[in-house]
Order: sequence, then C-alpha cells, then structure tokens
Amino acid sequence: MKLWLAPMEGVTDCAFRTLCYNHGADLTYTEMIRVDALVKNNKSTFNLLDLKNDTPTVIQFLAVKPEILQKFMNNFPKYNLKPAGFDLNLGCPSSDVIRHGAGAALLKRTQRVQELIAILKKTELPISVKMRLGLNQYEKEKKVYLNILNNIDADYFIVHARHGRQASSEKADWTIYQECIDTGKHIIPNGDIFTKEHLKYFQNLKINEVMIGRAAVKNPAIFEYLKYTKTTNLNKIKEEYLKLTQTYPSLEKYKRNVLNYLGKNMKATIS
Ligand SMILES: Cc1cc2nc3c(=O)[nH]c(=O)nc-3n(C[C@H](O)[C@H](O)[C@H](O)COP(=O)(O)O)c2cc1C
Repeated sequence: MKLWLAPMEGVTDCAFRTLCYNHGADLTYTEMIRVDALVKNNKSTFNLLDLKNDTPTVIQFLAVKPEILQKFMNNFPKYNLKPAGFDLNLGCPSSDVIRHGAGAALLKRTQRVQELIAILKKTELPISVKMRLGLNQYEKEKKVYLNILNNIDADYFIVHARHGRQASSEKADWTIYQECIDTGKHIIPNGDIFTKEHLKYFQNLKINEVMIGRAAVKNPAIFEYLKYTKTTNLNKIKEEYLKLTQTYPSLEKYKRNVLNYLGKNMKATIS
C-alpha cells in the first residue's frame, strides 16, 4: 500500500513534507495555493511553491477561473519547478473560498471542473482531484461526488469521505468507497485512516494508495510504522524536523503548528 501525505494549510511546507518522505510517505502534497494570488504575483503565495528538493510533491491549486489558471500555467515552465503532478482542490469548505466559487463549491460544477482539469492535463503530469462528498448533506445525498468521478478526466481522485459541513470530529463515511470504486476511476481514500487495520480494510477493496493527514502531524513517522512497524522516537523526529526547518526555512506559524501537535490529536480541519 502506498501512503500519501495530505495537503494541510499551515503545515505541509517543504520541511514537513521532507520529514514525512524521509519516514516513508510515498508522495506528498503542498497546501492549497490560490491561483488568483499567484497571477497577481503575491509574494507570500509564491513562497508556497517551495519545491526545494527531491521529495515527490504534487502542487495543489485552488482555482475557479480557467483563464486565470491558463495564464499561470503558461508561465509555469519559467519557475523551473519539478512537481510530481498537479491537484485541483474540490474540498475546501471555508466560507471565503466558497464565496469565490472555489473548493467544495465546485463539486456541482462538473463542466467548469473539466475545463480546469483540461488545462492542467496539458502538462502531461499526473493530475489529481481532491474532493469532498458534497458541499453539504443535501449534495452528498444527491451524490454529486459520483458526477465528478463519472465526468472528470483526472488520473486520481482523492475522496475525503465527508461533506463540506462536517467537522473533522465527525466520523468519515467509508461506506461510499465501493460505489466510487465501481465508477472504474482511480480512487484514493482519505479521512480517519491511521491504523494497519484501516489499511487492511482498503486493501480488501483493492485500493493501492491512501492519503493520511492529521495522523501524520501527530507522528510524521506513521508512514514507516504502517509499512514496516518501525517506530522512531518523537524526540528524534522533533530534532530532525527542526534541522529541516533550517535547511528549508519554515515560517514560524508552520513550526508552531507542527510542534504544537506532535504527539497530540489535531483538532482543526480546514478542508
Ligand atoms: C490543518 C489542516 C489544514 C488542511 N489544509 C488542506 C488544504 O490545504 N488542502 C486540502 O485539500 N485539504 C486540507 N486539509 C484536509 C486534509 O487534507 C484531509 O483531507 C483531512 O484532514 C482528512 O484527512 P485525515 O482524517 O487523515 O486528517 C487540511 C486539514 C487540516 C487538519
């Protein structure tokens, strides 16, 4: 089973991604990056494109207007970055993002999503979509997630098994995965996955990759534990992380988030 590190705003910068990669994550994601701000040359947003080493990293975009995404992608080769792929965020439920029609608000706009994905596909890199089950319970019941799976031509679909009104304290609904798999699309489950029994559950569904978020902040060595039962002392992990934040400088906010949650359950969920 391949284990992917989830995108987490304020956490998954280069230092944290590298830490997880060194401890068994097969693929990592940047946090969501607003394409609108990139085309306006917003410096702090540009700094999120921090692919500074060989850690395999997918760049996650928050985008809604095809012409803006196209404009940014036209310039992308100039930045000399080597991502492992691109991802479109269809999961963020924050009111600011929804108001602009992005994140989970895109779940019911299959045509718009297809236009955005078509732009990313021109890069010929693997393209993923990270999605919730709907913006709310109603959309989940209407199964908007199946519309996305059936109509969008992405390589991977990371399905976070909650709708947009659900907090991370509510249990992810894994019962939806069988119908997702039945669409024939490449499904990556996400939400409350952190034990070997959980991996067995998904292996039985013939799933080959899962994505892990909060459990990796609690212990970035969870990946090697799940794969090889190797355990690394949390103090060692902390030391290694602090060294990495010197090599690949982290903003104070990121360091604080990671150090606050090492060894503890993370409460906040942004998307
Ligand atoms: C602090 C935090 C920040 C997050 N930021 C993002 C983000 O930028 N993009 C995204 O797609 N999901 C984001 N998420 C959601 C996670 O990627 C993941 O889908 C969610 O935490 C469920 O997985 P888990 O149960 O393994 O944590 C965030 C979650 C947390 C806790």
